[in-house]
Amino acid sequence: MEDFVKFGIIGVGAVWRYHKIGTKNNSKIKFVSAYDIDESKLRNAEKYSQLKTYTTLDEFFKSDIEAVLILVPHYLHKDMVIASAEAGKHILCEKPMAPSLEECDEMIKATKKAGVKFMIAENHRFLPAHQLIKQMLEKGFIGDVMLGRTYEGAYCAPNEFLDPDWWHFCYDKGGGGVVADQGVHKFTMLNWFLGEVDSAQCWLGKTMNSPPNKGEDTAIILLHYKCGAMITVDLSSTTVHPLTNRTELHGTKGTILEDHSWTDPIKVFSTHPEAEIKGEFYSPKVEHGSYPAYYKISMGKEDDYFASCILEDKMPEFTPEQAREGVAVVLLSYLSAKKGSMANMEELVKVYKTSGTKSILDGLEGIVQKNYKFLNWN
Ligand SMILES: NC(=O)c1ccc[n+]([C@@H]2O[C@H](COP(=O)([O-])OP(=O)(O)OC[C@H]3O[C@@H](n4cnc5c(N)ncnc54)[C@H](O)[C@@H]3O)[C@@H](O)[C@H]2O)c1
Repeated sequence: MEDFVKFGIIGVGAVWRYHKIGTKNNSKIKFVSAYDIDESKLRNAEKYSQLKTYTTLDEFFKSDIEAVLILVPHYLHKDMVIASAEAGKHILCEKPMAPSLEECDEMIKATKKAGVKFMIAENHRFLPAHQLIKQMLEKGFIGDVMLGRTYEGAYCAPNEFLDPDWWHFCYDKGGGGVVADQGVHKFTMLNWFLGEVDSAQCWLGKTMNSPPNKGEDTAIILLHYKCGAMITVDLSSTTVHPLTNRTELHGTKGTILEDHSWTDPIKVFSTHPEAEIKGEFYSPKVEHGSYPAYYKISMGKEDDYFASCILEDKMPEFTPEQAREGVAVVLLSYLSAKKGSMANMEELVKVYKTSGTKSILDGLEGIVQKNYKFLNWN
């Protein structure tokens, strides 16, 4: 086997750019070919990325590749993953894994049957600042986490956002609004830090008058974890600032603050023996850059890690089952919003076993709070 992995790209849209720049000069990865339904995107991929392009999936799979990077709208993730598994390709597929738990199950079954490596491209797991927080939590820097909050604000251009044909945030193609699109990052990260969620309470809002086929642009979710931590998740795709994320965790022995827009993204207050400064906030050094650098860094490390798993024949530490748990918290949040009260995991499992988790999205538009009525965007 060669000492690099040849990848084909399925869907050379917006996020392809970050995978490309994140892996520039990475000798483990060669991007070889691309498949897309948009021929103009394929022409760009030929011209600017020197990819061999295909307009049929069958021909694409015959190109000289052993792995695929799937970067298509969420409703297509399942079919693309299954087709790639059946073609014997290792698979790195963008988040969220899929809009429903049943689709996640089918993806897991098909990839296991084919014996290919399969990882969801959850770049938040690979951001050095998040990896450092995980290490500090494991070492007990802040004791047992009891309280916290996390925020993602990813301002979307209103002309795209309000367009009913732009698939992001659509119930059918995106699997919901900001909770599905951005919230899944936070839920997957928090599960990694804190373990499993047992219940959620969620509010959904629209700050812009987007078409009815689009989900919420703003949400607040209160999560209760089995470990006893209570966390607030604030999400928006309309808040006005360069894209950023922020997390605050308070434990029985200290506090960690993190903000992607800070040069040194972490501040820690701890008396742990390994704390660089005890009893005062300090900022440990960690590789970072505010938007867009953190995309490049985290996606570069994620893609590098997946290539190493193939080259070294090891199973990715971030499993598809863990990615499915992130989707479960998305659906639990929607279930709570729909009920207008707290929902717990047992209720979600009941829906899974009866009407199916896709049914949770039915009628959501009716309960989204139309807050744009009170806001002046002009
Ligand atoms: N990790 C992150 O921070 C991050 C950031 C942005 C997007 N994403 C994820 O990346 C994925 C793609 O998002 P995007 O913003 O690049 O979307 P996009 O709309 O810009 O690109 C999607 C591409 O898929 C192509 N496509 C659509 N239908 C297709 C089909 N049937 N067959 C082949 N190609 C098809 C489109 O032509 C387009 O080129 C999503 O899962 C999204 O959530 C992740």
